Amino acid sequence: MIKLENLSKKYKTKEKEIQVLNSENYQFENGKLYAIIGHSGSGKTTLLNILGTLIDFDSGKVIVDDVDFATMKEKDKAKFRNRKIGFVFQSYLLNPTLKAYENVIVPMYLNRDIKSKERKEKAIELLKKVKLEDRINHFPKELSGGEQQRVAIARALANNPEIILADEPTGNLDKESEEIIFKIFEDLKKEGKCLIIASHSDYIKAYADVVLSVTDGKLEVVR
Ligand SMILES: Nc1ncnc2c1ncn2[C@@H]1O[C@H](COP(=O)(O)OP(=O)(O)OP(=O)(O)O)[C@@H](O)[C@H]1O
Ligand SMILES: [Mg+2]
Repeated sequence: MIKLENLSKKYKTKEKEIQVLNSENYQFENGKLYAIIGHSGSGKTTLLNILGTLIDFDSGKVIVDDVDFATMKEKDKAKFRNRKIGFVFQSYLLNPTLKAYENVIVPMYLNRDIKSKERKEKAIELLKKVKLEDRINHFPKELSGGEQQRVAIARALANNPEIILADEPTGNLDKESEEIIFKIFEDLKKEGKCLIIASHSDYIKAYADVVLSVTDGKLEVVR
């Protein structure tokens, strides 16, 4: 569960200030899939980065499981992010020098609860979940775009996070790959995870429990 309270964010450059978010309260629940829509420049990426605790904001609160993120110590923040939140980006951001299963292992290095000898097995299990069991030893360049994104999803799941944030996850993919990815997200939702997906694809609406738009800095429920 992740909650926003009176969130405000401005980008300040030398010449001007841009008010990106100026939102009232909103609560994202587990076991639901949220689609964030809105025109280019409306603030979708900014919102996901704030939810993912990757960037600061000017006022308001982000509360994850009843903890106000701003009150945490720096070292707790890093651990918290590593365990609670999985990120998926449009451009996959896989390490090209690592095989598929090694990419999935990367976030596990920061998680002392996973023993080193368990890592590979766990990575393979996650790759099975995204139907890539026959690609575990492939390097990113030996995978299609859709397959690379599925590796990135498996990696986002490495530490079994409760919240998955995806920024245009199918922006570089064809319809067929997009459908496979959205189906994986739907399965994760059924497992009880909270999925928040910014997307330009109209197709996401068919999978979403809630469609939200960012318009003039406000988060609004469309459906
Ligand atoms: N670091 C920054 N400094 C200054 N302005 C920024 C910064 N990042 C984003 N902006 C501005 O804030 C606004 C919102 O950007 P954001 O990337 O959140 O939009 P978006 O909805 O994700 O757009 P897109 O659909 O194109 O990805 C844009 O007008 C952008 O130019
Ligand atoms: Mg964006």
